[in-house]
Amino acid sequence: MKSFSLTICILLLAAGSSFSQKVDIKKAFKHADQQTLVMLKEIEKTKATATKKDLVTPRTLENGHLRMVASKDWTSGFFPGELWFLYEYTGKQIWLDQAKAFTKLIEPEQFNGKTHDMGFKIYCSVGTGYRITKDKHYREVIIKSAKTLATRFNPKTGVILSWDHSRDKWVNPVIIDNMMNLELLFEATALTGDSSFYKIAVSHANTTIKNHFRPDYSSYHVVDYDPNTGAVLKKQTHQGYSHESAWSRGQAWALYGYTMCYRFTKDPAYLNQAEHIAAFMLKHKNMPADLVPYYDFDAPNIPDEPRDVSAAAVTASALYELGSYSKEKNMYYQKADVMLNSMATKYASPAGKNKGFILVSSTGSKPSESEVDVPLSYADYYYLEALLRYKALKR
Ligand code: GLY
Repeated sequence: MKSFSLTICILLLAAGSSFSQKVDIKKAFKHADQQTLVMLKEIEKTKATATKKDLVTPRTLENGHLRMVASKDWTSGFFPGELWFLYEYTGKQIWLDQAKAFTKLIEPEQFNGKTHDMGFKIYCSVGTGYRITKDKHYREVIIKSAKTLATRFNPKTGVILSWDHSRDKWVNPVIIDNMMNLELLFEATALTGDSSFYKIAVSHANTTIKNHFRPDYSSYHVVDYDPNTGAVLKKQTHQGYSHESAWSRGQAWALYGYTMCYRFTKDPAYLNQAEHIAAFMLKHKNMPADLVPYYDFDAPNIPDEPRDVSAAAVTASALYELGSYSKEKNMYYQKADVMLNSMATKYASPAGKNKGFILVSSTGSKPSESEVDVPLSYADYYYLEALLRYKALKR
């Protein structure tokens, strides 16, 4: 009898490892839909009373107040992207109208060459709009934006310059987040046949593999290059706990970035890189059971450290794509399911609260005590993208 029970136990454990958690997409989108209706009203109220007249989209809550940003802010494109996702799921006219209206507000950024954040701003808004509508105007904006972004590429370093600011600390800083902007470049080549964008993206991705990662496949946040020789001057952090720590969102950007690079190139080196980054994150001793990371895998006071739901949202979305390319498909899907369920249950904003943000408990920058344990628009964006990717799998 004893050995029979043991056999049953072993069989159940083995079977359990291939079970996926069901995610209640319908409920999650109903919540997102209702929250975003609240957000639309809050945006109007904030704009009516703001002294700044260039505010376009919501970024976070500051002391309970809605903080909106101008189109030049790196986060400006996420809210329009969320509206496109809501339209994609619900088919409702209101979301199409709102998506178009908010996307229009981001378009001036196509000419802004002062930042590397073009992909975040334009690809998440205009790029998502183009994927859904195939509107020719959006196509032109994507191409112009890629041309503008390409001006930041330096053939001597082989990478796109990230920041123009903080020249007291870095000469030519490149951050791991920059991997996300390559999607815009790959897409521009796919749209035009002009391979120059593709070549820049590949050069950036290859140089980043060489210089941004430690032997355990964790990533530094900032690598500073000599712009004349391409020599690496410093490897540091800006938003993580320390220079040698693994800032969680940085790992998520890297995972998403190399998975996306594999989508466009089918270069096995990128798939290999993404799988190792995923292993670093998913097997880390400080990854909590709900798979929503602390803001840094090496934060000193875990478990008394803030979580970063945005890192979980980016990771979950990336894992659904990575799973579609990998032999470890089921394992990646299961981990992403756990993340999605955690976000949809434990980290969902109570209905009508938080000015209409969908999720809570993200962390922007713990070292500067900025945006700690708050809603962030990019957590909401990647959460909705992950929900749609889950739905598309039809398991
Ligand atoms: N790209 C900026 C951040 O992840 O905070």
